[in-house]
Amino acid sequence: MKVNGVHHRSLWVRPDQGVEIIDQRVLPYTFATRVLRSESDVAEAIRTMAVRGAPLIGVAGAYGVALAMRADSGDDNLAQACSRLDASRPTAVNLRWALDRMRAVLAPLPVAQRADAAWREAQRIADEDVALNRAIGQHGATLIAGIHARTRRAVRVLTHCNAGWIATIDFGTALSAIYQAHDAGIPVHVWVDETRPRSQGLLTAWELAAHGVPHSLIVDNAGGHLMQRGEVDLVLVGADRVSARGDVANKIGTYLKALAAHDNGVPFYAAVPSPTIDWRIEDGLADVPIEERAASEVREVAGLDAAGQRVTVRIADESTPVSNPAFDVTPARLVTGIVTERGIAPPGELAALFPEHRRAA
Ligand code: MRU
Repeated sequence: MKVNGVHHRSLWVRPDQGVEIIDQRVLPYTFATRVLRSESDVAEAIRTMAVRGAPLIGVAGAYGVALAMRADSGDDNLAQACSRLDASRPTAVNLRWALDRMRAVLAPLPVAQRADAAWREAQRIADEDVALNRAIGQHGATLIAGIHARTRRAVRVLTHCNAGWIATIDFGTALSAIYQAHDAGIPVHVWVDETRPRSQGLLTAWELAAHGVPHSLIVDNAGGHLMQRGEVDLVLVGADRVSARGDVANKIGTYLKALAAHDNGVPFYAAVPSPTIDWRIEDGLADVPIEERAASEVREVAGLDAAGQRVTVRIADESTPVSNPAFDVTPARLVTGIVTERGIAPPGELAALFPEHRRAA
């Protein structure tokens, strides 16, 4: 997608094989990039959320393996790099998926061939991500078009967190559907949840503004009220991990939106590329690891001061006890459908779209 008229991916490889990323910690105030030159640079960028969003951290992890292989492509380093990178964030399964894939490709190769093969495989994963997200957007846009055909007015979509192009390599997942509907001339208005504590909604608002999509930023608690008033036609979110039966783990607060949607008869969809589906887990509530992040994320907020300088201010004292779970799980019974690159299915019928993962009876 474009930033100031220039097409960007969220991560790219430089001619000197540095991995360049958009530093998402300073967006939307500053557009800055950083160059990652080692596996530990990548792990740190994932941990500190300089790169974030399930698909993007999967691709970043793959490049972390490529950087590790350039330093030492032996068996021990391959295994240790994968496990160190995997430990950087626990909830989004895309990271483990990408690391497993890198390992499966590299382990059988002679050590001398691994470094080049790792760069090629990481690039393939990145390019595939773009294709998956484009296809998700095409399917998701049909949902929006269907609502517009019924109502003949702007389709009001509520989204949570940032499932846009910067959370992926390009296009995004939930926002890919919105961009493609907008580009097809369907009028859309997006309710953008602020998404405390890290305010990823500001990234969503920044992306939508850059693409010219009408939107309003709302506080996290406004969604239920808007739904009661009939001002939301569709809730469309991304996901960090979806279980085989269709439980959706996503940014903290998603579950409350799904509850409100259910109570008000508003359809609730998650837009999910197949690497986000964890076929090994049935019960997402029991088995998805929920990341607990630093208390400082809750005690502090970041923004601009009157002079336009980025500042962080403390809103709760150091002595205030804090709990900061970063994700929650929406049970499949509250999910109307999952939008994938292969089409849209009710959560219980996800395996019909991916028969290769259907379990033997
Ligand atoms: O903590 P984050 O910002 O990495 O969480 C991101 C989300 O929860 C997104 O909704 C999810 O990864 C989908 S991104 C296409």
